[in-house]
This record gives sequence, structure tokens and C-alpha cells, in this order.
Amino acid sequence: MTGEKSKHQDRNLRVLGIETSCDETAASVVEGGRKILSNIVASQASVHAKYGGVFPEVASRRHVEVIDRVILTALEEAHLSFEDLDAVAVTRGPGLAGSLVIGLNLAKGLALATGLPLLGINHLEAHIYSLFLLEETHPVHFPVLCLIVSGGHTELILMKDHGDYHRLGATLDDAAGEAFDKVARLLGLSYPGGPAIEQAARSGRADAYHLPRAMLEGTWDFSFSGLKTAMIRLVQRLQPETRPGMPPATGPLPLPDLAAAFQAAVVEVLVRKASLAARQFQATQLFVAGGVSANQTLRKSLEEAAPCPVRTPPAELCTDNAAMVAAAGCHRALAGEGDPLDIDVLPDWALGITAEGESIGQA
Ligand code: KG4
Ligand code: ZN
Repeated sequence: MTGEKSKHQDRNLRVLGIETSCDETAASVVEGGRKILSNIVASQASVHAKYGGVFPEVASRRHVEVIDRVILTALEEAHLSFEDLDAVAVTRGPGLAGSLVIGLNLAKGLALATGLPLLGINHLEAHIYSLFLLEETHPVHFPVLCLIVSGGHTELILMKDHGDYHRLGATLDDAAGEAFDKVARLLGLSYPGGPAIEQAARSGRADAYHLPRAMLEGTWDFSFSGLKTAMIRLVQRLQPETRPGMPPATGPLPLPDLAAAFQAAVVEVLVRKASLAARQFQATQLFVAGGVSANQTLRKSLEEAAPCPVRTPPAELCTDNAAMVAAAGCHRALAGEGDPLDIDVLPDWALGITAEGESIGQA
């Protein structure tokens, strides 16, 4: 139905969102792009904690086990049945291919059985739409600068309108959340690393160690691998390997100081680049989305430095959820868009959408 007007254009569309791009199995019903009628997230974090990161095959299997229950619970909590819905929106990528395909195939099955339109949603676009769920209290005027900081992505995107995205820059190596996760593992902290590092950093001194900040001047790109290497070297220096039979050469690692210094380095880069871009592109608001947007130090620093109001989602909408997928789906359905049942997953930006200025909304 691409290009045609949606038959439901004049009423509040009710969209079922489904999200399985990583290790959260999520379903949600959103009305009119803003009103969350239900938002169910089955997190696998405890399953993956023992691996120190997401184990892709385990993630896919777990999605298979719980997805039907998660969807039925989302409908139950919304007090709706399939007949009350107007569309099914599902994360199409980027993400783990084996996980994405579970949600996508289920959504296709639902669309086929019910006749509801199917909308394949870009996961990054969904994170941006977590902020549109707040539109009632915070009206959005374009252009908006979006900083997406998650376990898989660190992106600066200028959004000029619904569906009109300009990709300014992205990480050249590790994503911000990935850096938090890897450094947490290095420090012996739990997975996911972001909350663990934030907690440890509370009682630490950010200036206890000087760590590198890759500003990559003249570009909107990011790089966190040098910071990660610096942390590895620092830990090796502080805690040389203990020789067999000998007492440890040093005491325990100063975790709070290490966590605070690392967090400060990541935050400073994100804040400086996002604030500069917001100023340069005259953004009316700065949207910060993705798991790392839950970080309080990042939020506070952005609010102090940004030249425009900063919008961050409530905690439950920072990390992966399906309400943001449904919200993005509502806007695409209202624009008369829809996808055929033979769409495949989008494993990465690979599908010809890497260049600045191209749309990320559709393949
Ligand atoms: O958006 P998300 O749930 O999944 C992806 O799309 O990747 O983000 C998960 C990431 C993880 O790397 C996690 O460590 C990070 O977000 N994260 C945080 C915080 N909460 C979650 N990073 C820093 N501070 C936090 N409070
Ligand atoms: Zn995400």
C-alpha cells in the first residue's frame, strides 16, 4: 500500500509493535503514535550475564520460547484483541539476524492471518520515536538532532521531518554501550555494563585517571576503541598478573575511580559532539535515545552544554522496547506506507543507506 492513503487516516491508529533485535522480547500496543496501552518487555539479561554479553544463538531460542506469550500479554493488558488493531509493526533491523527473524516471521504470520498491514521498522528509527511518545507534553518542531547511543550504535542523525533523516556521523568502531559493556567485563562488573559502571562511578573521582577522548575533529564520527585499549593498559598497570604461589602484588582495583574516569571520557565526547552539531544545524531539540541515554551523568552534562532543550525517554523506553516500534509504525501507517510480506531482515546499514542524507526509514 506504499504511496496510498491509509484507510485509517482519520482515527487514532492502534498499532501492535514487536521487537526482537537483540536480547529483549517485547510487544506493545500504542494508540495514535503516543498513547501506550501496554508495553511488555521480557528481558534475557540474566540469561546472558554469565557470558558477559549477548550470546546470539541463546537469544534467538529464548525469543522463540516467549514471544507468543509476550504478544498475548500486550493485547491482554491493552484490553484489546487482534480485531481492534490497525497494523503490525516489527523491528526489521539492524540487529542480530537470528533474533530479528523470530519477530519478523511472527509479525508476517499475524499479518497474513489477520489481514492487518505489516510495517518493517528500522531499529534506530524506533529509538528516535521513543521521544515522540512524549509529544503530548513536549511538542516536536523540526529539525531535531538525534543522538542514538545503544549497545550496537552511536549515531548523530539530523531529522528534518517524519521520515526525513540525515545521517551526520557514527562510531567507526565500538558503540558507546558496547564500550560500557566491554569495560565492565574488564573490571569484573556485571552485564549489562552501563548500569553497573554508572553505579560504581557514583562513589568515584572522574579525574582520578586521565583517559583519551577521540574527538575526530572535522567529522561527526566517534571512536571508542582507543579508550577501551587505554582502560586495558591502565588495569594491567594497576594489577599486574599475580605469579603462581605469590600473594597479589597489589590490592583490589579502585573500581569506583576507574568507572568514573571511563564514564567521564565517554560522556565528554558525546556531549561535545552532540552540542556542537545541535548548534551548527540549529536544532530545536536534542533527542537522546538508546540504552546509554539512561545514564544520568550523560543526561546532566547534555542539559548543561546543549544549545537547545534535551529530550530523553523515561527509563523504561531507553533500552529496547516495542512501544517505540509501534510509535514509528503509527507514523509510517499514517503516511500511507506499508510493506509486503516478503521483506527480509536488515542486518545492518549495509542496504545502501550508509551515506549522509539518505533515509533510514525504509530499505
Ligand atoms: O538500546 P539498547 O537496549 O540495546 C541496543 O539496541 O543495543 O542498549 C543497551 C546498551 C547496553 O550496552 C547497556 O550497557 C547500555 O545500553 N546501558 C547503559 C545504561 N543503561 C543501559 N549505558 C550507560 N549507562 C546506563 N545507565
Ligand atoms: Zn536498541
